[in-house]
Amino acid sequence: MAAVKIGIIGSRFQADCIAGAVKATADDAEVVAVASPTPGHAASFAKRHGIPRSYTDYRDLLRDPDVEMISITAPNRLHAQITIEAARARKHVVCEKPLCLTLEEADAMIDACRRAGVLLLYAEELFFAPKYAKAKQLADEGAFGRVHLVKQGEKHSGPHSDWFWDVEQSGGGAVMDLGCHGIAFCWWFLGKPRIKSVYSHMATQVHQARTQGDDEAVTIIEFEGGAVGMVESSWNRPGGMDDCIEVFGDKGQTYADLLMGNALPTYSEAGFGYAVEKAATTRGWTYPVFEEHWNYGFPQEMRHFARCVRGQETPISDGETGRVVQEVLYAAYASAGLGRKIPLPFRPQGIVKPIDLWKMPERAQAAL
Ligand SMILES: NC(=O)c1ccc[n+]([C@@H]2O[C@H](COP(=O)([O-])OP(=O)(O)OC[C@H]3O[C@@H](n4cnc5c(N)ncnc54)[C@H](O)[C@@H]3O)[C@@H](O)[C@H]2O)c1
Repeated sequence: MAAVKIGIIGSRFQADCIAGAVKATADDAEVVAVASPTPGHAASFAKRHGIPRSYTDYRDLLRDPDVEMISITAPNRLHAQITIEAARARKHVVCEKPLCLTLEEADAMIDACRRAGVLLLYAEELFFAPKYAKAKQLADEGAFGRVHLVKQGEKHSGPHSDWFWDVEQSGGGAVMDLGCHGIAFCWWFLGKPRIKSVYSHMATQVHQARTQGDDEAVTIIEFEGGAVGMVESSWNRPGGMDDCIEVFGDKGQTYADLLMGNALPTYSEAGFGYAVEKAATTRGWTYPVFEEHWNYGFPQEMRHFARCVRGQETPISDGETGRVVQEVLYAAYASAGLGRKIPLPFRPQGIVKPIDLWKMPERAQAAL
């Protein structure tokens, strides 16, 4: 098939990851443009990755007739606006997690893409992470009998950019940033069952001086049929990114450690270049990961999305997936605010950002 031509919006952390991932699936996709507002950033990104065109205004990228699909790697608060404009420009959209800030935005994004006849693809790479995909394959083959508990945890020492810490721009803290992965993961792993309820305990344990957001949380999701998902999210784990799952059924279980479990337990007094995302040092004991993008599933994700654009595959993660996650995010923050389990559906209207349901529990109460 002809490689799908991609325009990346944003030029920092996740943009680098997407550009690297697309290079690793060159038969299916290629990056032809990048847009980012800080003068010089898009141009140097383009030079570094061998991308032919760069823009400072993403609207110019949306006008680029060569671009078939965009990848949004801009801050959360911009996801909805960029998606809706991209749909109007008839571009397929890959949107990074979380889908957006509000359920109204999620609906508008899905609606805009449907009307325009373009795909809205939700970039949840854990559906493509080889180790986790293997665990799901085993579960689907019946290896564990009836799966009754799925756990996912993602933890690191806190985000690299200021906007993540500013809840007006991010919509929330660690649950919004990392919990969205675990919510999507547990739901997908169990075969996308109806979600009955959500309970979450949240706190700002360490980073009170830097954020109003939650930096640590445990979220419990009850699914139709009785299975439970448990999601641990933390910005309080030094030593580099930690991403693990555990799956329990009545006939067995499996454990997978995405990064440390695929790394080289290493001791170095001299230090070296790079160990793993968010690791502050390479001295002493570290876990340098290899093929980091591949372990996460980013090239596999972008290949799937490109094939979806060509009609060769059906999206396994789309706008509806992002919307399910968004509703659970609402319920998680409401639960933390009210100190109780929240039954779904839970669709409070007019919320500006999910974390408001934690900080203003009366808004959550009014929606029950
Ligand atoms: N899937 C994952 O595992 C994963 C990992 C990291 C980040 N993300 C998501 O990707 C998104 C970006 O995160 P990041 O870590 O790359 O953040 P970042 O701060 O490193 O980069 C954000 C980029 O957006 C650009 N930007 C800001 N305003 C813009 C605008 N108006 N138009 C175009 N670009 C604009 C910035 O200039 C910057 O290049 C977030 O939604 C984040 O949650 C996903």
